[in-house]
Amino acid sequence: MNDVTRIPVAGDRPYDVLVGRGLIDALPTLLDGAVRVAILFAAPLKDRADAVADALTAAGLRPLPIEVPDAEAGKTVEVAARCWDQLGAAGFTRTDAVVGVGGGAVTDLAGFVAASWLRGVRWIPVPSSVLGMVDAAVGGKTGVNIGAGKNLVGAFHPPAGVLCDLDLLDSLPADDLRAGLAEVAKCGFIADPAILDLIEADPAAATDPSGAVLRELIERAILVKAKVVGEDLRESGLREILNYGHTLAHAIEKTENYTWRHGDAVAVGVVYAAELGRLAGRLDDDTAARHAAVLTLLGLPTSYRADAFAELLPVMRIDKKARADTLRFVVLDGLAKPGILAVDDVALLERAYQAVAQ
Ligand code: GLY
Repeated sequence: MNDVTRIPVAGDRPYDVLVGRGLIDALPTLLDGAVRVAILFAAPLKDRADAVADALTAAGLRPLPIEVPDAEAGKTVEVAARCWDQLGAAGFTRTDAVVGVGGGAVTDLAGFVAASWLRGVRWIPVPSSVLGMVDAAVGGKTGVNIGAGKNLVGAFHPPAGVLCDLDLLDSLPADDLRAGLAEVAKCGFIADPAILDLIEADPAAATDPSGAVLRELIERAILVKAKVVGEDLRESGLREILNYGHTLAHAIEKTENYTWRHGDAVAVGVVYAAELGRLAGRLDDDTAARHAAVLTLLGLPTSYRADAFAELLPVMRIDKKARADTLRFVVLDGLAKPGILAVDDVALLERAYQAVAQ
């Protein structure tokens, strides 16, 4: 375990996010006192889950590998119930622990199983995607989807640590890696403009999993998220800024029946939020234009169907930031200056949509 970056996350139950390579060796120390450790994973990550199990066995722990369906198919109450049954059969106690190896859906499920078992046991996400590293695995949001919507059942349950092992990105499909960078760019706009400078200076390096630039981008984005969730775990204020671009993004994802990658939808959503800020007189023209430019450098989409606004508007209205008939958007008052814009003027929302209409 050479060259590990440790990013602390503050709060009632502080923990560290570790970024580096070969991080599995850190697991036994983080799970000190546990005897049994469930390892939730989906089939594509079986080799990594086996390596985690071997490391735990070598440290004298008893791993319990549990294969779950990949992606959103695994993030259900039924799959969680199957996991609870297996923990029960293996006699999991309060000092035992759960590890989730995989993308955001698998780590959200693992966190939820840990949050609910005996009202909360330790857990550690080992995210396998850029999106998982910079977003899903950091901040203690855990949960499953139900018929009424995504993430409607869950708990805030901070992990005991997060292991962002860059080795896992070597096998990540290029389109998934690129999509994760939309959340990284978002962090650049809301808090850390050095992220934008790095992307603009060398966009190819930004998407190269073997290079130092992607690692720096991931670390900077985690720092942004760690600072925000360290101050506001339960989303009672500041944490809302992480939702920059997400009001339109969630509406696009729902309209597309979740066949779009989250990051691709976020890319379109931040271009829309920038334009909304500009039209509302909050954001200058150059910074607004920089959004589409940076995302295009990364090969991310910046537009959506021109005729879709009427379909998207009612979906945007059920955003969790909305209050009665007023939509609330995160906008920028300048680079790294996020704020809230309350809008009940549909004409303004529609005018801003022209910036992303294809
Ligand atoms: N993905 C937004 C948050 O964790 O608050």
